[in-house]
Amino acid sequence: MAKLSVNIDHIATLRQARLAKEPDPIYAAVLVELAGAHGITVHLREDRRHIQDRDVKLLREILHINLNLEMAATSEMLDIARTIKPDLVTLVPEKRAELTTEGGLDVVRLIQPLRSAITELHQQNIPVSLFIDPIQSQVDAAKSIGADYIELHTGKYCEVFGTDEEHEQYQFIADAAIHARDIGLKVNAGHGLNYQNISRIAAIQEIQEFSIGHSIVARAVLVGLDRAVREMLELLR
Ligand code: PXP
Repeated sequence: MAKLSVNIDHIATLRQARLAKEPDPIYAAVLVELAGAHGITVHLREDRRHIQDRDVKLLREILHINLNLEMAATSEMLDIARTIKPDLVTLVPEKRAELTTEGGLDVVRLIQPLRSAITELHQQNIPVSLFIDPIQSQVDAAKSIGADYIELHTGKYCEVFGTDEEHEQYQFIADAAIHARDIGLKVNAGHGLNYQNISRIAAIQEIQEFSIGHSIVARAVLVGLDRAVREMLELLR
């Protein structure tokens, strides 16, 4: 069974909507852990629109499951990662105007800065994942600069799920996952996954962990976080 890392950014989004103290993403993380998830993911954005530095620090202290810190490869974030020492850093592209992470990293074009970010994180014994589109040249580039993991962007597959294009997008992910595994990369996946579209992707044996946020938090608003996490774990099984 693949592992589930729950992205709790949206809990912080709700808190920041009122610049209030609640809902506290730390409380949410405890419930996610108790429901049996394998990890917590947070994206500390440059503009601090949802997750705050205090959240990342507290999560590092209290969690018994893995903490995956998503971040841009900037010197500010590299300093924070050095202090926090998350179990995994996932490097993502970041644009201020986007609603969410829109595309994968263009590793082919950003070889030099990404290589030096990976080297710096490895000096702190922090494993690194690169969030990329399911394209072979990007997988190869990730391997060539020493990434430990890739996270395959499932957004396009999710967008076309249920249409004639679904199979093609599914195949890109499956092929990229097999290729990555064959060249020695560990494979995670995420973005846009929900209770309807997860099963087909969850059957790809090469994918070790899914990072899922929006659909779980959206369901949690209606049925509670514990049930929302357990239902997703059941689908992964
Ligand atoms: N993986 C990455 C790299 C992301 O940026 C996000 C969104 O923050 C996710 C996974 C989770 O996507 P979603 O919220 O659509 O489940």
